[in-house]
Amino acid sequence: MWPFRAFPVVLFLFESGWSAKSVSSVKVPFLYEPHIEITVSPIVTPDTLRILDISWRCEDNWVEGDWVALYNVEPTEKSQPSKFSHVVKEDEGWVRTYIPENRTFPETPSFKKQCLGWYAAYWRQSDMITLPVATTCLTTNPTWMEDNWESIKSISLRNIFLPGTHDAGAYQLAYSPFEPNRFQKYVYAQDESIMEQLIHGARYLDFRIGRYPSAFWLNHDIARVHILEYVLEDVKLFLNKTKEIVVIDVHAFPVGFKNRPDSHAELIQYFRTKMGDHLLAFMGYDTTMQQIMDTGKRLIIAYNDAGIVAKNTMFLWYPISQKWGDVKSVADLYKYLESIMHGRHPRSTMWSAMAEMTPDAWGVIVDKYKGLRTMADLSNHNVTEWFYDEWGGQANIVAVDFIRSTGIVSTAIKWNKAKTAMVPTRSRRTTIFRSLKR
Ligand SMILES: *[C@@H]1O[C@H](CO)[C@@H](O)[C@H](O)[C@H]1NC(C)=O
Ligand SMILES: *[C@@H]1O[C@H](CO)[C@@H](O)[C@H](O)[C@H]1NC(C)=O
Ligand SMILES: *[C@@H]1O[C@H](CO)[C@@H](O)[C@H](O)[C@H]1NC(C)=O
Repeated sequence: MWPFRAFPVVLFLFESGWSAKSVSSVKVPFLYEPHIEITVSPIVTPDTLRILDISWRCEDNWVEGDWVALYNVEPTEKSQPSKFSHVVKEDEGWVRTYIPENRTFPETPSFKKQCLGWYAAYWRQSDMITLPVATTCLTTNPTWMEDNWESIKSISLRNIFLPGTHDAGAYQLAYSPFEPNRFQKYVYAQDESIMEQLIHGARYLDFRIGRYPSAFWLNHDIARVHILEYVLEDVKLFLNKTKEIVVIDVHAFPVGFKNRPDSHAELIQYFRTKMGDHLLAFMGYDTTMQQIMDTGKRLIIAYNDAGIVAKNTMFLWYPISQKWGDVKSVADLYKYLESIMHGRHPRSTMWSAMAEMTPDAWGVIVDKYKGLRTMADLSNHNVTEWFYDEWGGQANIVAVDFIRSTGIVSTAIKWNKAKTAMVPTRSRRTTIFRSLKR
């Protein structure tokens, strides 16, 4: 039903023994498989929040009459009544259902992967075909590394594709619709707690820390948002309950650190006291996932000050390079990220594509962009698509706003599996390539 398309995708391969320039034509099988996904829009209004979007792709296999549908039970047949349906007119796209996810408070974290009550299917009209072309459920991803361990264990930190959250600490977890005020519109970049970000698959958390007389806080620029202690409790519980590897990037120190070396010393001591059992000593970014697992520790804290790291390599990792375009339109975001993806990547550290738009100060004052939620809503379907096909093979960290409105987690999982299959050691290379080329 879904013949592999015959032309190859060009990939840049970086693994063991390959120079960054080696280019090879390899087929990436998942790119030719039909795919459907449910994402959760960041848009909030006084009437609704967390509405569901369906995106689909079926490379060159679209047939007139195809449709996608949303269900609140697992669909088994075409005639089953759905909550929403939409006739598909092209190979690839997305549609807004306007149906809310309908979450209820309080939630207890679950560390088992689960469907969250919403299902979607891609159907074909023709009478012959009774099975859906593709199905999915809205799902968590608390154990994706463990679930795919055989595929990812030999990938190094520099080569893995890690999904992550930009300004992870600037989250606002809401359960009922509301009208965001100006502060809320431009301060919150996520709508899930750190625990939920991890449960939904983020493995890179971008932290900006402020020091106040009472405590350390997670900030968005100069606005303080959540107390660091509570967030670290989330990370600790997640690490205790799973076998996942987590990277925290302490990237900026917007309040209380300037000319105050004591603040850094206190913060590092704080990390040691709170997270000591979990902190992995610096081993270099060529370390593989298995080598990390073998140490028994799974938390990497990268600290954006190489001088300080040099004195604390038992607890801290050297800075991660963030590639941030400071752009205001989707077209500019594409242009910027394209130049980054095709440019030279750091050789000794991880690097993060910051895949979000950023407002300028004036734009915030006049509310030109209608808030970070609206900005993420404009770009996140595009971002998913770019990393799904064009850039996934080269991506290292991809940090997004409002992570559940992207498909970046499932995209990263697919690419990590594909990377391993396609980038073996030198000796296996020819055979694998032959089998992939067909
Ligand atoms: C949302 O949940 C409420 C209460 O559980 C229920 O009455 C309502 O029908 C649900 N809405 C949708 C769209 O499922
Ligand atoms: C996690 O486990 C460590 C010991 O392994 C324990 O000290 C700590 O209290 C646990 N934390 C949570 C939040 O469960
Ligand atoms: C973003 O996606 C929309 C469709 O959702 C498309 O029309 C637009 O061209 C895309 N923009 C870029 C810059 O790729």
